[in-house]
Amino acid sequence: MVPFSKASIFLVCAAFIGLSCSHPTSTLSVKEVVDKTFTNIYHTMRADELSALNEQKVLSLFTPDEHEVLSTRHWSFDVNTPVVVSIFRSIEQKIVPFWLPEQGFTKTTLTAKNENTTYEVWQKKIPAGHVGLGVNGFENYTLHYFVSVAPQSKSAKLILSNLFPSNQTVDSLRVGVPIYHDWEELVLTEIPAELKGEQLLTTIRGRGVESHLIGAFRKTTHPSSAKPDQVMLTWSSDPSTGIDVQWRTDTTIATGTVKYRIKGTNEEFTASAKSYRMEDRVLMNDRYINRFTASLRNLKPATTYEYLVAPQSQWNDLQSFSTPALDNQFSFTWFGDTHYSPKFGDIFVKSAKTYPDAAFYSIAGDQVSDGLYRNQWDDLFEYSKDVISRKPFMSVLGNHDARYGLGASMYRELFSYPKDSPVGVEPERTYAFEYKNALFLMIDCVSPIETQSAWIENQLAKSKATWKFAMFHFPPYNWEEPYLDIQKAWVPIFDKYHVDLVMGGHIHYYMRSNPMKAGKVVSSYNDGTAYIISIGIEAHAREMSPEPYAAVRNNEGPLFQNVRINGNKLSYVSVNAENKIIDSFEIKK
Ligand SMILES: [Fe+2]
Ligand SMILES: [Fe+2]
Repeated sequence: MVPFSKASIFLVCAAFIGLSCSHPTSTLSVKEVVDKTFTNIYHTMRADELSALNEQKVLSLFTPDEHEVLSTRHWSFDVNTPVVVSIFRSIEQKIVPFWLPEQGFTKTTLTAKNENTTYEVWQKKIPAGHVGLGVNGFENYTLHYFVSVAPQSKSAKLILSNLFPSNQTVDSLRVGVPIYHDWEELVLTEIPAELKGEQLLTTIRGRGVESHLIGAFRKTTHPSSAKPDQVMLTWSSDPSTGIDVQWRTDTTIATGTVKYRIKGTNEEFTASAKSYRMEDRVLMNDRYINRFTASLRNLKPATTYEYLVAPQSQWNDLQSFSTPALDNQFSFTWFGDTHYSPKFGDIFVKSAKTYPDAAFYSIAGDQVSDGLYRNQWDDLFEYSKDVISRKPFMSVLGNHDARYGLGASMYRELFSYPKDSPVGVEPERTYAFEYKNALFLMIDCVSPIETQSAWIENQLAKSKATWKFAMFHFPPYNWEEPYLDIQKAWVPIFDKYHVDLVMGGHIHYYMRSNPMKAGKVVSSYNDGTAYIISIGIEAHAREMSPEPYAAVRNNEGPLFQNVRINGNKLSYVSVNAENKIIDSFEIKK
């Protein structure tokens, strides 16, 4: 007998039961189907039509087979016994995911709650075998549905296997359980009594974006062209002898080189760049760009270089850099959250005028508001371009720079930083460098805290630097939500090796602590650490509960900080948009 082909199975299913067949013939994944659809509609639809897409129009874009992929391949697993699958869908999500009724799920009267929303429960009996579930809808509703599963027979032991996506945990449905791995604090506060103890499949909020087509399209105000732009310096090796030059072009330019020479000489060197394509699928006017990184090495210390990014031919002042002089004098300038705001653009330029000798610039996380929106990074680079083409930009990740559990791929593609991160943290998300007599620990506190402790201790233990600084986004001490996990894991290490400044943001206000050790105020910064929170845009005006350890605090953003080292002396200022110093102090060793 000739077996049915996959195509004929689909046709038979489609003919008898409409679109509720769960055997798509396509081998494509949801991502591949949606990617392909984007490519098609960019060719066939105008920008206004893309922006006006609605549920009905979006559904018409897919073939029956693609429709089936979207209905069954977003989330899947196998069960060893017949089950009841419960889908918990937020009642605030405007449109019910199209596949739920189509695949035979029925809305029940059961509900569950967390402090943000109420979930209605849809159920379906499914035989032993494969269970395939669909996308979260075409709008990007962030409180993604979640799933519980129970055997139809009370005496059966349910085993889930072949989970897709594979990196997920199976928990037990109960009050107090978190649903979203990227928001562990958001726990269930009410569940239906009859579903208690069922096997619970949790998710990340970011998965809603996989099929985001309604209201999804964005434009960048600074699209790429064949001419290199967004030229930026970073360090991914010893700043005394190396620097990385990065830039972008449109996709017509496949290769890139940097020419450089010691200022005042004519001998030219060339470094060729690694190039890689970056995609922001919903960026209508600039979906793909090419990004380049050239690593310049074996530079001479205490030397000024000029460079140019080919095919440019004019050596100019805006593209030069200096390796560190052989002394222990320098300053650096840093900002709290900047959220790609033009306010940050203004204060960034002001800071560079006021302290033009700053050796580099940093932002303590939340550089943009959505780290996977390339148009926001484009704005950030536009504001800072005339400075960061001359001075390295050494930043850390905030919660907004990695989105809803989807990771920080765009941040990692955009910045070239040292790659020896702690085990369990993606390269470049946490890194360290030494500049003159100072050690900088640039830590990603969005990644797990505890697992980075040994790396942090190792960096501090092996450093002979006079000054030790740590920068990370979540401030361990703040009035709103103290980070007890950071206090527990990292503060004892900062105390042991006497870290001088811990710089952060996130709470959108300004605070400098008195010297602190073991969570208590001590008499001198020679003995304790200054914990500083700053803000690079307007602060939130609000009532703040007391912080007995605070030396200075206010709601006066945007601010920038300049930290000046002169051998054994540190001079610190925090400056507002009117160029007025709002806080200053010194440490002498
Ligand atoms: Fe923020
Ligand atoms: Fe934040």
